[in-house]
Amino acid sequence: MPGWTISFSYLLASILFILAIRGLASPRTAKNGNLAGIAGMVIAVAATFGSPDVKEYLLILAVLIAGGIIGTFSALKVKMTALPQMIAAFNGLGGLAAVFISLSEVTAGNPTRLESSLGLVIGAIAFSGSMIAFAKLQGLMPARALLLPFRRSINLGLALATVLLCLFFIKEGQTNTFYTLAALSVLLGILLILPIGGADMPVVISILNAYSGWAAVAVGFSLNNILLIITGALVGASGSILSYIMVKAMNRSLLGVMLGGFGAEASTITESENKTLAARAGSPRDAAFIMENATKVIIVPGYGMAAAQAQHVLKEMADDLRQRYDVDVRFAIHPVAGRMPGHMNVLLAEANVPYENVFELEDINREFATADVAYVIGANDITNPLAKTAPDSPIYGMPVLEVEKAKTVFFVKRSLASGYAGVENPLFYADNTIMLYGDAKEVTAEIVSVLEEK
Ligand code: TAP
Repeated sequence: MPGWTISFSYLLASILFILAIRGLASPRTAKNGNLAGIAGMVIAVAATFGSPDVKEYLLILAVLIAGGIIGTFSALKVKMTALPQMIAAFNGLGGLAAVFISLSEVTAGNPTRLESSLGLVIGAIAFSGSMIAFAKLQGLMPARALLLPFRRSINLGLALATVLLCLFFIKEGQTNTFYTLAALSVLLGILLILPIGGADMPVVISILNAYSGWAAVAVGFSLNNILLIITGALVGASGSILSYIMVKAMNRSLLGVMLGGFGAEASTITESENKTLAARAGSPRDAAFIMENATKVIIVPGYGMAAAQAQHVLKEMADDLRQRYDVDVRFAIHPVAGRMPGHMNVLLAEANVPYENVFELEDINREFATADVAYVIGANDITNPLAKTAPDSPIYGMPVLEVEKAKTVFFVKRSLASGYAGVENPLFYADNTIMLYGDAKEVTAEIVSVLEEK
């Protein structure tokens, strides 16, 4: 393939990747965004195949087919609720690819020491950090923060040693130094992620995603491949922006999370004084009666709605209330509801809930005071008022949906168990709360059948 064709293909692929990221910013355009990304990747791979530098066609083809099969199989098999760990695993593989490319560049004696060492360090941290994040999210190791003594000093010392070793390698170029650098970076990745507790995991995954992008940029410079630089920068920049948005949504400090262990000190679960209080339970029939007589109902979905796949029946309930009983029904979305950014938006879009009925936290919070009912379905941490009042709580400072301001609050969940952050929710015992115990889909289906009786 002539040089200009490759350059043109790379340019076309880059434009398609930019359009893909733009499309993925909204559920309305996400499908087209995905298609643009696929088209960009096909062009990129085809152009790379045509490059005169590529000689091992069979090997590349074999790996491409194997990777394609694993990727397709994982995408089809993965449950919606397990997406965060799949993203973590794939981020890690991106980092590992950067590590291998850097290693091959150095062992081949190529003179791009700065780029190779940056690709190696960032890639290795993304790899080992992502593996720990995967293990935590998959339940292969405890999700809570694992706190080593002196961890901040150890991490700082390791980071300093890594920088010094990088400089030494750039000056001397010894392969052994490079291997030591690889080991040190892998260790740093592990130690950075171990002290991070469950509640901060989404931010961590997003940061690791950005790391894998920046590692690709470094490798792109080392291979002198413009497409890798552009694609890596897109992943790095969008991942960094997403991390910033999430950190802001959770009222965290980006540096704090990146240095490891932010908010971890307080991750012990406090014994609740609520033990002596009793939570009031109601039936789906009670809930249907109260909601059909309401003027305004706000639905707050959370992880349990996703786990129960209750979005379709929830949409049916909203439609019934609106059409049969003339109730103003809105959906309130917390930025970290569920287990990944946009988790609830995706599920509600899948159930064809109109976008104009879906409101973000800052737009809906003041509405609870004038709502008759808050229907909290499979959500917990994102409503917990301790985030506002208990400085020793791991979720302290995170903005929450103020459901307690509604006249009646229904919590649809199976028990009084705590949510992802392991913090008890005092709202279960509040005077205006009624617990609707059971699976989110089953309880809502029962409500729908009562609403449709008349
Ligand atoms: P959680 O606080 O985790 O609460 C979910 C609740 O759903 C649980 O308390 C559980 O109670 C209930 N539940 C589970 N399965 C259910 C089912 N089949 N039917 C009915 N209820 C069910 O979720 P949330 O309020 O959405 O908050 C999200 C949490 O996840 C935050 O702590 C956040 O930091 C964290 N997180 C978020 C993300 C992103 S980016 N969204 C990623 C990782 C972690 P029962 O066991 O009693 O049923």
